[in-house]
Amino acid sequence: MNRVMTLVAFLQAQNCSNLPGSWRHPSTMLDFTTPEYYQRIARTLEDGKIQLAFFDDRLALPDLYTGHHADAVGAGVRAVKMDPSTILMAMGMATQKLGLGTTYSTTYYEPYHVARVFATLDLMLKGRAAWNIVTSLNSAEALNFGHAEHMEHDARYDRADEFMDVVMGHWNTWEDDALILDKAEGRFADPAKVHRLDHEGRYFRSRGPFSVPRSPQGHPVLIQAGQSGRGQAFAAQWAELVFVIYHDLEAGKQHYASFKKAVAAAGRDPAQVQVAPACYVIVAESEDAAQAKRAVIEDSARPVDALVLISEVLNYDFGAKGYDEPFSDEELAGFSWHGFRERVVKHSGKKNPTVRDFVEVSGRGTIAEHKVFCGTPKSVADQMEEWFTAPACDGFVLAATHMPGSYEDVVRLLVPELQRRGLFQTEYRGATLRDNLGLPMPRAADWHAAR
Ligand SMILES: Cc1cc2nc3c(=O)[nH]c(=O)nc-3n(C[C@H](O)[C@H](O)[C@H](O)COP(=O)(O)O)c2cc1C
Repeated sequence: MNRVMTLVAFLQAQNCSNLPGSWRHPSTMLDFTTPEYYQRIARTLEDGKIQLAFFDDRLALPDLYTGHHADAVGAGVRAVKMDPSTILMAMGMATQKLGLGTTYSTTYYEPYHVARVFATLDLMLKGRAAWNIVTSLNSAEALNFGHAEHMEHDARYDRADEFMDVVMGHWNTWEDDALILDKAEGRFADPAKVHRLDHEGRYFRSRGPFSVPRSPQGHPVLIQAGQSGRGQAFAAQWAELVFVIYHDLEAGKQHYASFKKAVAAAGRDPAQVQVAPACYVIVAESEDAAQAKRAVIEDSARPVDALVLISEVLNYDFGAKGYDEPFSDEELAGFSWHGFRERVVKHSGKKNPTVRDFVEVSGRGTIAEHKVFCGTPKSVADQMEEWFTAPACDGFVLAATHMPGSYEDVVRLLVPELQRRGLFQTEYRGATLRDNLGLPMPRAADWHAAR
């Protein structure tokens, strides 16, 4: 069978998409606090046979810039953050096949809680759930959860590793055939097939037994998006779908090859771990129309967007520094998202980049943050095909420039062209997200054998 692209919609439970200016776009709908807003997007995505809609998340609004929330709230720079798992259920009720995933933090949540939320989601969504495993990265999140400071980078990943031991452990404590449901005999489930976890580790203690039976996918699909060395090691060990940001195709090819090697070195099958870079698609009936759309989108950005969002992810107030003043080694070492910092150091060609370098090289807060595929359906499909066959990826994470128009354009214009080329599914391949991603069904017995 031909390789089929995985297409993921990159959603936010927010007042804007990944692109903060998207709420200012003339055609964006602003009913983002209602279920109808998300259900409308979900139905559009399912119409286009998109495999997965996924929400990012952060546990604080971005108030590190200038040390106050005035800019973020005043300008609407990702100022609203609702709980995405609740929204997933609303979307699930409006669809049958669309996969539905969300981010939950390993830094501030408890593993038992996360295991229960996602096992329940996978049951209620009949095997369509996915979890994006993140380590939280800034002090605003720490302060919301009663901590004075956020955790150091590698320690966050150490905690995340143990977090996974607990979550996976609980998910695998109900054997596949533990439920009996025999009314006549009065036997509900086989106690010999439901086990206690009894986890006692460095960061967590969790006893069990887990209170949710095994779900149709065995367990939800696991997503990860860390790009530092430590982040990649974590992804190679746990993730089934990995989100990345590539500066360009060349960097993507190199990363893809080295990451697949890391997966093999971790003792897993590289074909069963997919890599999908974030991108923006601006597609229209003609090249001129696509360029006109792009101009409207670019016009929606404000300089404050970049400064607020860079301060947020690097956990540093970019308002406290001169625009052309280089960061010291010490300041750089403290930046929270290592993959982001390393990309700017590499592509600015400077060991000590300035605020301007971070803004211009990262493109954060603008469409330049991700690869932009712009043009007619044919030219956009050509570009995506080049990345897919290089190979630099197994699919794409489609960030939206405006809502819901971005996804309507993708589904109406781009998807048919990808399908015509045999690059994208024309029908959902099965009932569960695993079926539609071509991922194997995990078995509890395999987890125990591997331990
Ligand atoms: C497509 C995509 C989605 C992401 N979603 C989130 C998110 O929801 N929450 C978050 O804190 N980080 C998110 N990240 C960033 C990283 O996963 C994460 O913040 C991590 O701390 C960075 O790890 P690193 O230092 O290993 O690069 C995302 C990155 C990408 C490419």
